[in-house]
Amino acid sequence: MTYRIAVVVGSLRRESFNRQLAAALTKLAPQPLEFVTVRIDDLPLYNQDDDGNQSEQVKRLKTELSQSQGVLFVTPEYNRSIPGVLKNAIDNASRPYGQSAWAGKPAATIGISVGAIGTAMAQQHLRNILAYLDMPTLGQPEMFVQHKTGFFTPGGDIADDSTKQFLQKFLERFAEWVKHHADKVANK
Ligand code: FNR
Repeated sequence: MTYRIAVVVGSLRRESFNRQLAAALTKLAPQPLEFVTVRIDDLPLYNQDDDGNQSEQVKRLKTELSQSQGVLFVTPEYNRSIPGVLKNAIDNASRPYGQSAWAGKPAATIGISVGAIGTAMAQQHLRNILAYLDMPTLGQPEMFVQHKTGFFTPGGDIADDSTKQFLQKFLERFAEWVKHHADKVANK
């Protein structure tokens, strides 16, 4: 059994550390998880007037989410919260009312920043949103990652072995979390 995980990256920056982290996590993902990064940079700004006529890009995101058994959010912290592009993606796929593509999907959050608190405040804000969206979100381990020079190898891997092991543990816990929730849905 494979569980498809939609990976949502909260930065559009070309050299984004979070995008690099998402790519490194994809390589470390344990066997039952298959990571697919979803596109959010071409979504329209959310406008409730469009609820009855959502754009192809929004429909694409919602389809990708509906085909996934879990969601991994990899996000920077902007001004002590989540970036607007991420909130825009969340809002777009949450509507029309009653047709949210997020509902019930098990989730996990992680983020890397140059600041010492490693996106902790952004992730706390994100957890608040995910609770409202009815997404069971992995509580531990919390993954507040600080970027320093040499964090990634030139090949895009995690340079430090103990950090790599910690990330692997996180992914294993997430795999159990997704499996637990997917099995619950299957046995309903
Ligand atoms: C930041 N940055 C930042 N860092 C942090 O730890 N806490 C914060 O509140 C903020 N706020 C913030 C706002 C804005 C508008 C920008 C552009 C940046 C710095 C941030 O961690 C850094 O730019 C990361 O490199 C962003 O992540 P990506 O794009 O590398 O994935």
